[in-house]
Amino acid sequence: MNRGMIIRVTDTPLLDWTGDGLAIGFFEDAVELTGDLATLDQKLAGVLQELIAETEFKGKEGSSAATRVSPGSSIRKVILVGLGKPDLKLDNWRRSAAVVARLAKKEKCKTLGISLPIFNRNPFKTAQAIAEGIELSLFQDRRFKSEPEENGFVLEQVDLLGLPSQEEAIATARKVVSGVNLARELVAAPANAVTPITMAQKAQEIASEYGMELEILEREECVQQGMGAFLGVAQASDLPPKFIHLTYKPEGTPKRKLAIVGKGITFDSGGLNIKGAGSGIETMKMDMGGAAATLGAAKAIGQLQPDVEVHFISAVTENMISGHAIHPGDILTASNGKTIEVNNTDAEGRLTLADALVFAEKLGVDAIVDLATLTGACVVALGDEIAGLWSTDDAVANELAQSAAIAGEKLWRMPMEEKYFEGMKSQIADMKNTGPRPGGAISAAMFLKQFVKETPWAHLDIAGPVWTEKENGYNSSGATGYGVRTLVSWVLGES
Ligand code: BES
Ligand code: MN
Ligand code: ZN
Repeated sequence: MNRGMIIRVTDTPLLDWTGDGLAIGFFEDAVELTGDLATLDQKLAGVLQELIAETEFKGKEGSSAATRVSPGSSIRKVILVGLGKPDLKLDNWRRSAAVVARLAKKEKCKTLGISLPIFNRNPFKTAQAIAEGIELSLFQDRRFKSEPEENGFVLEQVDLLGLPSQEEAIATARKVVSGVNLARELVAAPANAVTPITMAQKAQEIASEYGMELEILEREECVQQGMGAFLGVAQASDLPPKFIHLTYKPEGTPKRKLAIVGKGITFDSGGLNIKGAGSGIETMKMDMGGAAATLGAAKAIGQLQPDVEVHFISAVTENMISGHAIHPGDILTASNGKTIEVNNTDAEGRLTLADALVFAEKLGVDAIVDLATLTGACVVALGDEIAGLWSTDDAVANELAQSAAIAGEKLWRMPMEEKYFEGMKSQIADMKNTGPRPGGAISAAMFLKQFVKETPWAHLDIAGPVWTEKENGYNSSGATGYGVRTLVSWVLGES
């Protein structure tokens, strides 16, 4: 985190602002120096006009240009940033702010002023998005480096211009980002650093810090609850499984009761159906991305204090191999009594989620959403930026779609195809855990559906967007913290 950095709104007019870098945002094909900008350009001896012409700056999304202002001026550098077409996508503000923040850092600006147009006549959301974009893009994870800082330079102060009194928006952004960054850290940490024990400790820290209730079911208690599917996955690991149930309760009567369930496999070896060479086994530390998003959302919700009750649930374990590993073909009994023939030990996430979903439904919540790095098939279908969304309930599906749009996280609704569940019929048990390869992300969702009776439920397969190989907007390469912002927005009822 950039703990030293201050982001604030200021009512200093654009023309009077002084500091190291001044960034100005333009919509695509609307790069005009009129009004204050014309005056500013005059004041800066035409440097804006010159920069626009020289770089053929058109305001395209993600584009930028920067130059030195003549020495002795009240501003050292000017930065132009393109917001793209004015089609009112809030995420363009986050992304533009990230471009500016990265550039300001590169240009060694300690103080930065940002003047962007207002999104949809909503200065609160504008300020929040800009602050999120800055904070998210400057996040650096140096926990596993022996040297603390790559480049000791820090951006000290960011002034948002033209957005009077949106301090609350900036505070909101910081709370949300603290949750996203927690999820990023949990996902990025290797399996020898983040274990089921670590996940339980994190939940404990959140519970203590924000006064939330925490219940951790140890193996024995999971046995008592009949969680045979979860425990089957856990049985080969030398580490104890942890079933985490963290609860946020508002002060008054809650408007709504929600459950968020996250897949929490701290390492997925595949089990005896071991992941072979070229399967990406070394990236399987990220298989707790759903649980990480769940804890990240809990951290943000604990600070934002909405009047909604939220249960954060995760059945956390490793999927390992040992003399007591499940054999392919073993039959497990889940906590709702259903029996599962494990025809593939690498389809472990759905087994752990089965018991977590049954547990969530027993709480009597109004809706359940699960997030899981569930299938490679979903990555093949939607790529690494878009999550798949499955739901038995159009209202919840629409809420999530809108929350995701506000949050700038991409998802796409996928079909709950009853027929595809036929591929998971078992001769001997109620179902198998794996169907044929085609439509593998859909049959995985159909499997999960067997463990939710009547509560409106949605499933997000986040196997793609949980991680990015390359820097992309405000995400640096690595863990993205995907899901936290959508969940927060959903709980706050922003849809
Ligand atoms: N954790 C994986 C899914 C995954 C794949 C996440 C790639 C992130 C990137 C999951 O447990 C898994 O192994 N799924 C199998 C299911 C198959 C055995 C039906 C898969 O996708 O191959
Ligand atoms: Mn697996
Ligand atoms: Zn997995």
